[in-house]
Amino acid sequence: MRDITLLTIFDHRITQKYIKRSGMAHAIAAAYHAFTLSKQYNVNSDLATKAAFLHDIGHYTWYRDGKWDYELYKKNDIHAIKGAERAHKLLIRLGEHPAKAKKIALAILLHTDSYLPDGQLSLDPLQKVVALADEMDEEPNGNHHYRKVDDEKARLLIIKLDEQIDNELYQQDNQIASL
Ligand SMILES: [Fe+2]
Repeated sequence: MRDITLLTIFDHRITQKYIKRSGMAHAIAAAYHAFTLSKQYNVNSDLATKAAFLHDIGHYTWYRDGKWDYELYKKNDIHAIKGAERAHKLLIRLGEHPAKAKKIALAILLHTDSYLPDGQLSLDPLQKVVALADEMDEEPNGNHHYRKVDDEKARLLIIKLDEQIDNELYQQDNQIASL
């Protein structure tokens, strides 16, 4: 049983404000990729989809002359740090279990290494799924942040994904029960 759904997160004004800033279409596409990948990597689809949906919630607007300034962004960005904290606060406020909120926040913190000094990150399977889900939807020059989806369609896509996650978790529970 899930404590909160993607729809609960989607409907919150904090989500609407910040995810629209970094791209609702990208967030939803990443969540769908995370769902598919979660089955391949055998990770919890509830955690993977929430982390992928929220992974860019920490973005600041690096706009110059109405366009995203990639250079400015690369130099000063800490969106993964900000996002991990912002997502964690939101999830706890909405009633997510603290252990799950921590896992989701860590996956957001580690979904990119672009803000970290050179080195090798060792990701666990959930963190890897979220990083891959983001990469799968990336376009050159950050164009994935600009792709649009209207509010109604976005909400329907989230409802559909929630149903798929519930089915998946239900099937997993039944498999465990029949062992
Ligand atoms: Fe992203």
